[in-house]
Amino acid sequence: MAATPKTVRLNNGKQAELFTYNGQVPGPTIDAVEGQRVTVHFTNNLPEATTIHWHGLPVPPDQDGGPEDLVPPGGRRDYTFDVPVGSAGTYWYHPHPMDLTAGQVAKGLAGAFRVRAGADPVPSTFRDTLVMLSDLRLTADGRVSPGTQADKMNGREGDLVLVNGQVMPTLSWNPGEGRRLRVINASAARYYRLALPNHTLHQIGTDGGLFAKPVAQTELLLAPGERAEMLVQATGTAGTQSVLQALSYDRGVHVMPMGSSTPMSSAAPMDHSMHGMSMGTQASDGGGGGLPLMRWQYGMAAPAPMASIPALLRAVTPIATAGATPHAVVFTENMMTLDFRINGQKYQAGRADFVSKLGVPEIWQVENRGDMDHPFHLHGTQFQILDRNGVAEPFVAWKDTVNLRKGDVTRLAVQFDRYPGLRPFHCHILEHEDLGMMGLVRVE
Ligand code: C2O
Ligand code: CU
Ligand code: CU
Repeated sequence: MAATPKTVRLNNGKQAELFTYNGQVPGPTIDAVEGQRVTVHFTNNLPEATTIHWHGLPVPPDQDGGPEDLVPPGGRRDYTFDVPVGSAGTYWYHPHPMDLTAGQVAKGLAGAFRVRAGADPVPSTFRDTLVMLSDLRLTADGRVSPGTQADKMNGREGDLVLVNGQVMPTLSWNPGEGRRLRVINASAARYYRLALPNHTLHQIGTDGGLFAKPVAQTELLLAPGERAEMLVQATGTAGTQSVLQALSYDRGVHVMPMGSSTPMSSAAPMDHSMHGMSMGTQASDGGGGGLPLMRWQYGMAAPAPMASIPALLRAVTPIATAGATPHAVVFTENMMTLDFRINGQKYQAGRADFVSKLGVPEIWQVENRGDMDHPFHLHGTQFQILDRNGVAEPFVAWKDTVNLRKGDVTRLAVQFDRYPGLRPFHCHILEHEDLGMMGLVRVE
């Protein structure tokens, strides 16, 4: 795989000067089966240093493409790791060089990484369908816009939202068919509250693979970095269409009110005018008022018998937390000074915030004392959400990214099972991460 600058023609006819993996945006999808060893021969053809990070996969620290493990311009290296049994799920890869991550992702660097189970409980009648969500903000002459001060506060949202690198692609299906969606939020800061009007989203999994059983929903929120797997049945009639869309979501972005030099959160009560600011500029349609992402077009074929949703998926064992070691992670922000911290400190290479012991269960209490949403992400292992604001999580699931709204306190069960070394945890709004809202845990 090579990271290379390239002028890409988008399906809306526009040219865009992007950073690509192998000339593609998104990069090539990597498919692996549990238990396999993966080796990626990587060449950096960019004019700046980069890394590839395997978001969500439990790879050894020296293969994880961390913030200091740079591949210089013109450099090459191999990434080699095992994809363990039990890790089947939907992951992704992206650059992670300190200070440069947001800029490189804004230029298009990201790709999907699917891990399949040896024995998959989901019938193959549900066709595997990748939905990789990203966004671009381009100048009139097709360059990626330079970041603004507001981007540093809020994280950049591009106004051009792409599904698998395309503006508003069409998926064709027939009544009775089933699809297995693997949705990845590869945007630096944009949240997606997904809905497909008149269809039920049977969520079957999240960051670290399948749930124990499906959960039926009408909408589903994905923060930056998060993934969801869902089954969708073609319950509509021949010749009709439905539009997958992102409904409005207020993540508390900060704005400079007229005549003031003090940023304010959109979540503040007097600032309703900015509600829905994250909607972008694509025209709204599809009968739901959301941002249209992808057209689902019904063909004219005679209805097939409806693919049925499996009742059970797999066993998900809770981490035993009796007597677990506690750790605290507190997000704070100062928008005036663009100061984003964890536990009162900014990221510093090599400085661990605390120590975790291999094989020992822990409870991490993560708290957002900022004014806007911050998605917490941990490298090196999946975790389980125990509770949010004192409310027990309804079921056990494997996660590597969890969103925290302003004021939220969430408790996570964490247990590192393999590989000692330093592991980053950070806010997955990439501008915040680059500005130092990142810590390290030393796993021993
Ligand atoms: Cu998706 Cu530390 O990153
Ligand atoms: Cu990661
Ligand atoms: Cu943040």
